[in-house]
Amino acid sequence: MLQIFIPTLIFTAFIAVLTTILIFCYKLLSSQKKITITINSDKKIKTIADENLLSVIQQEDILLPSSCGGKGTCGLCQCQISPAPNALPTEKSFLQKKELNKGVRLACQQQPSNDIELTIPAYVLNAKKMSATISKVTSLSARIREFTIRLNDKTLNYQPGDYILIDIPKFQIGKFKNDEETNRAYSISSFPTEVINEIKLTVTFAASPDTNVLLDGIGTTWLFDQKEGSEIQISGPFGEFHLQDNDKEKCFIGGGAGIAPLRSQILHHFQQSQGSNKITFWYGARDAESLVYEEEFRKLEKRYDNFEYFASLSESNENRQDLTKSYIHTETEKYLQNHPAPEDVEYYLCGPAPMIDATTQMLINLGVDEESIYFDNFG
Ligand SMILES: Cc1cc2nc3c(=O)[nH]c(=O)nc-3n(C[C@H](O)[C@H](O)[C@H](O)COP(=O)(O)OP(=O)(O)OC[C@H]3O[C@@H](n4cnc5c(N)ncnc54)[C@H](O)[C@@H]3O)c2cc1C
Ligand code: FES
Repeated sequence: MLQIFIPTLIFTAFIAVLTTILIFCYKLLSSQKKITITINSDKKIKTIADENLLSVIQQEDILLPSSCGGKGTCGLCQCQISPAPNALPTEKSFLQKKELNKGVRLACQQQPSNDIELTIPAYVLNAKKMSATISKVTSLSARIREFTIRLNDKTLNYQPGDYILIDIPKFQIGKFKNDEETNRAYSISSFPTEVINEIKLTVTFAASPDTNVLLDGIGTTWLFDQKEGSEIQISGPFGEFHLQDNDKEKCFIGGGAGIAPLRSQILHHFQQSQGSNKITFWYGARDAESLVYEEEFRKLEKRYDNFEYFASLSESNENRQDLTKSYIHTETEKYLQNHPAPEDVEYYLCGPAPMIDATTQMLINLGVDEESIYFDNFG
C-alpha cells in the first residue's frame, strides 16, 4: 500500500510545484509586457499591460473625474477607447447605446492588454483644482440646501449643465467617521451671468434608508455641516450635458436634485435668446415641501408664452391638490401622447437613475431616437 501511496504523493507534489512555477512565470511575463496608451493622438504613455486604466490616467495628473474610488458606481470616469473593448454590464448601465458604439467606456473598469488610443474629453484636460469659500447657505426645504460658492482666485468658465467635484476630507462629525478622502459631484444650478465669480449648488441630503443599518451619505453629511465662510476644495468644470443650439422644441424632465443643471439651462436659455421654440419643464418632487424654485418657474411661465412648467409629487400631494400624485415621466407621457411629433422634440433629463431609466424607456416607446435624448444620471 505504502509503495503506491508515496510515489503518488511525490508525483502530485511535483505536478503542483510545476504548475505554480508555470503560473508564476506566466504572470511575470505578462506583467512585464509593455503597452503604449496614446492620449488624444498626442501624448504617449508607456505602461504595463493589464494595469487599471483609471490609475494610469490619474498618475499623469489628468483630472478624469471619479467619485466612487474606481468601483464602477459613479459613472464619471468616461473616456473613448480604440479599438473598443467589450463593454461590461457595469458600463452599460451608465452609457447610452450611441456612446457604447463610439467606444466610450469607464476607465476604472478597463485593464488594456494591448496598445490603445484614448480620447479624453477636452473639458477634463481644461479642468482645474481650486479653493473656494461657501459664501451663503440657504435652506430650500428640510432636505435641500442651496450653497453659494465663491471662487477664491480663479474664474470658472462653465456651461449650463456642467458640474464640479467637491473634495470630501477625512472627518468625524458626532458618531459619523469618514476614514477616506473622496469627492462628490454637484451640478451648477446657477447660470453663468447670474452671479459673478460665484456658483450655486442645489444639494439634497442623502439620508440613510435605514439608520439602524446604514449611515447617511458621506458627502452630504460633511457638506451640510459646513458653515458660511468655510473653505472648500473643488475641481471642474466637468460635463457634456449641454444645450444644443437649435430651434427645436425642448422638453426638460427632472426629478429631485436633478433640477440643478436644468435650472441653469432653462434660465440661461431665456436670458440669452428670444427664440420662440416651445420649452416645457416637467419636475417631479417627493412632496410639496421639496418643490424647490417653483415660484421662479411660475414667474417665467407668466413672462414667456413659449414656456410651460408642470410639477407632480411622487409621495404625497396632500397639501397640493392642484398637483397630481404621480411620477413625472407618467405626466410627461400624457403630454407627448397628444403631441403631433414627439420624435422632433429634444429631451434633457436629470435625476436619479430609476427616473432616467423610466423616462428614457417611455421616450423610446414613443418613437424618440436616442440621439435626441441628453441626460445626466445622478446615480
Ligand atoms: C454628474 C453628477 C451631478 C450631480 N449633481 C448633484 C446635485 O446637483 N445635487 C445633488 O444633491 N446631488 C448631485 N449628485 C449626486 C451627488 O454626487 C452624491 O451622489 C449625493 O450627494 C450623495 O452623496 P453622499 O456622499 O452624501 O452619499 P453616499 O455616501 O454616496 O451614499 C448615498 C446613499 O446611499 C446610502 N448607502 C450607503 N451605503 C449603502 C449600502 N451599502 N446600501 C444601500 N444604501 C447605502 C446612504 O445612506 C445614502 O443615502 C450628482 C451626481 C452626479 C454623478
Ligand atoms: S470611478 Fe466611478 S465609475 Fe469609474
